[in-house]
Amino acid sequence: MTNNASTTPSPTPSAVAEPTGTLGVLLPGLGAVASTFIAGVLAARNGLKPPIGSISQLGRLPASGTAGERRILDGVPLAALDDLVFGGWDPISANGLEAATTARVLDERDLDEISGQLEAVVAMDAVFDRRWVKRLDGHRVKTETTKWDQALALVDDIERFRAANDCDRLVMIWCGSTEAYQEPSDVHQTVAAFEEGLKADDDNISPSQIYAYAALQAGVPFANGAPNLSVDLPCMQELAAERRVPIAGKDFKTGQTLMKTLIAPGLKARMLGLRGWYSTNILGNRDGQVLDDPDNFKTKETSKLGVLDTILEPENYPELYGEIDHVVRINYYPPRGDNKEGWDAIDIFGWMGYPMEIKVDFSCRDSILAAPLVLDLVLFMDLAARAGSSGIQEWLSFYFKAPQTVSGQKARHDLFEQQDNLLAHLEQLADPAAS
Ligand SMILES: NC(=O)c1ccc[n+]([C@@H]2O[C@H](COP(=O)([O-])OP(=O)(O)OC[C@H]3O[C@@H](n4cnc5c(N)ncnc54)[C@H](O)[C@@H]3O)[C@@H](O)[C@H]2O)c1
Repeated sequence: MTNNASTTPSPTPSAVAEPTGTLGVLLPGLGAVASTFIAGVLAARNGLKPPIGSISQLGRLPASGTAGERRILDGVPLAALDDLVFGGWDPISANGLEAATTARVLDERDLDEISGQLEAVVAMDAVFDRRWVKRLDGHRVKTETTKWDQALALVDDIERFRAANDCDRLVMIWCGSTEAYQEPSDVHQTVAAFEEGLKADDDNISPSQIYAYAALQAGVPFANGAPNLSVDLPCMQELAAERRVPIAGKDFKTGQTLMKTLIAPGLKARMLGLRGWYSTNILGNRDGQVLDDPDNFKTKETSKLGVLDTILEPENYPELYGEIDHVVRINYYPPRGDNKEGWDAIDIFGWMGYPMEIKVDFSCRDSILAAPLVLDLVLFMDLAARAGSSGIQEWLSFYFKAPQTVSGQKARHDLFEQQDNLLAHLEQLADPAAS
């Protein structure tokens, strides 16, 4: 990888452009996460529900220099919730209300109050290819047949949305399904090769890559909430550098992996050993249905498995972490809907090697955990763009299961290290005079 992949240095706070005007939020994939996110923002700005779980809305900056401890919202120039407008693409959902009703994450009484506004978020026809998501049958799809024409059609959609909503700036967050597993290939190595591949309809180019390409071409920051390769590709990193656009990914860190990155650093802090970690999940939403296909599950499994090794560093602690069996399973079980249950059987050992067991049973709500991450990523990716930063935004690792890193560095998975980096970066961009 070249220097192209690196993040540009953050400028001084005075160089961060003010968040004036409207910020358009474009969401490929108007499913459970996206509709829950939009509904929560609408509820928060109507004063109906607080934005629980959002660092940007509720978090605080530590005291530093002459500035005392203060809310992130008071110190850092973030776009206001009132200034967000939403758009998206989906091959199945017609609009935000239909997506939320199908997802059954939120109660009817919570949807009733914002139903008109949710319904107004009409999904654009998707670039969709069933070969990448076998369990879904999309019918609201673009008619362009070549991948190049599909990319151009997405750029047109973006520009139409920008003009229709009088957007000052845009951000795109991939909330679409997890695609079948894929390794990068020749077509992903450079922008030129990727563009040739689009024109030649290369089989290695997936729909999420076409959205990422269109976003970057249109100068729109792109964050990837799924484990698809999308911006984890040299061509996209080259394009992000060329177009001076921030990128981030991948795969929102929500239920089980969040727990893993909370517990594992604690075990390591106390020099307790780990012999095995068996994680299993049942969930019954559309995401669970997609992940029931082995090819799609493999993409998710790869992103989930990377976490333990980098936290525990078996190379430095062979007697504690040299032999770990780490298994992750996801089973589709319709009765649960979005209310995923994740079990972790954790086999640890202590003084003189005596074994102990930890059991975690987390009955979570997947989209309730993911929605505030989408909001933070929207606001922080926009902040990065206004600060003139482009390429990989490593300071946003906090939000991802498989964080992107600037060339040559190992990903950090420890949630508290990630939080320190996030807050330190925000502190750099905060106005010391604002309180
Ligand atoms: N909910 C969580 O906690 C969580 C955590 C990490 C990652 N994710 C990932 O976030 C994504 C969204 O999760 P969800 O629960 O909302 O799933 P979902 O199935 O409810 O929504 C995904 C939507 O994407 C649409 N879609 C599929 N292919 C598309 C394409 N090519 N273009 C546009 N739309 C497309 C589907 O029709 C669906 O409506 C999934 O990839 C999931 O793995 C979710």
